[in-house]
Amino acid sequence: MRVDDKIYHTIWLKPDDSKVVQIIDQRFLPFRFVIEDISSVEEMYTAIRDMHLRGAPLIGAAGALGMYLAAVYKNDVHKAADYLISSRPTAINLEFCVTRVLKKTEAAFTYEEKVKAALDESLVIISEELENCRKIGEFGVELIQEISRAKKGETVHVLTHCNAGWLACIDYGTATAPIYFAHDRGINVHVWVDETRPRNQGARLTAWELGKHGVPHTVIADNTGGHLMQHGMVDMVIVGSDRTTVTGDVANKIGTYLKALAAQDNNVPFYVALPSSTFDWSLTDGVKQIPVEERGADEVRFVDGRDGSVVRTVDTLPENSPALNYGFDVTPARLVTGLITERGICRASRESILGLFPEKNQ
Ligand code: MRU
Repeated sequence: MRVDDKIYHTIWLKPDDSKVVQIIDQRFLPFRFVIEDISSVEEMYTAIRDMHLRGAPLIGAAGALGMYLAAVYKNDVHKAADYLISSRPTAINLEFCVTRVLKKTEAAFTYEEKVKAALDESLVIISEELENCRKIGEFGVELIQEISRAKKGETVHVLTHCNAGWLACIDYGTATAPIYFAHDRGINVHVWVDETRPRNQGARLTAWELGKHGVPHTVIADNTGGHLMQHGMVDMVIVGSDRTTVTGDVANKIGTYLKALAAQDNNVPFYVALPSSTFDWSLTDGVKQIPVEERGADEVRFVDGRDGSVVRTVDTLPENSPALNYGFDVTPARLVTGLITERGICRASRESILGLFPEKNQ
C-alpha cells in the first residue's frame, strides 16, 4: 500500500544486503515511520515477541525469513524453528510458515542450497499471502456491495477490531481488503475502528492505514460498538483471526468475542476474513484448545501518546493495582455469520470449511 509517495509491503530483504531483513517497526506508528534492520534469528525472535511487527500473516512471513537468517548464519535450523515458534503462541501462521521453510531447508544438501531453499520458500509464502489477501478482498467486497445496493448507495458502516489491515499482512490486509476494494470501486464505505486496548492497534495502526488510503473512518472506544449496533449504525462487522479451528471457532484480539455477542443480539452480520494459513486443521474446540497468549501487565498500565511534538509513555493506573493482559479470545462458530477466505466465503462450520478446502478432509 501507499505510504505518502511510496509503495510499501511490510517485510522485505534489504536491497543492497540480502542478509538483512527489513520491516516497518510498528511500535512507532502512527507517530513515526521507522524501518528496522533484522540480521539474526535472535533479532527476529525479539521483533515478533515484542511486536515490532504483528498480525498473524505477517508473523508467519517473519518466522519464515527468520528461518532464512538461520540458514544464512549456519544456525541449527531445528533449534531456530522451535525458538521462533515460541515467540508468540496464538497465531498458527507462525508454526505453519516456519515448518514449511524448515522442511525445504532439511531437504537441501550444501550450504548454498539450504540458503536458497529457505529464501525461495519464504518468498513463495510472502507472495501467496499477498495473493490470498487480494482474493479475500475480491470475495469480501461483494458483501459490502450487496449492502450498499440494499441501502441504495447510502454509506455502508463496517466495524472492525484490532488491526487486520495491510500492516498485519504483506499487503491489503484480511478484514480491510474488502474495505479497500469497496472504497476503490467508489462504494460509500465508512469504518468504525475499535481502539483495541491495551495496545491500541485499532487507534494506532488501522486508523493510520485507512487514513493513508483516504478511507473514511472514526475511532471509537472499545465499549462503543454495542451501542452503535443497537441504533442501526453498524451494517456489518469484519475482523481477522489468529487461529481458526476446522469447526469455525475463531481466536482473534481480545474483545472480538464481545463484539460478536453484540452483533448477534442486534442481527448485524459478523464476518471473519482469513487466509487458509490461519486455519488449525487439527483443532475442533477453540475455547478449550487454542492457546491464548498472556502478555505483560505493563501493556495495560502504560499508554503512549503525543504531547505536542514529543511522544511520551504515561502510567495510567494506581501505583499498586495489578493488571492482567490476555491477548486474545475465542469467538465460537455459532456467533460467526461467515468466513471470507482466498477460496470464497463459507459458513463457520466443519462441513462448509472443508467444502472449500476438500484436501484437508482426512
Ligand atoms: O496481537 P496482534 O496485534 O498480533 O493481534 C492481531 C490480531 O488480532 C489480528 O486481528 C489478527 O492477527 C489478524 S491479522 C490479519
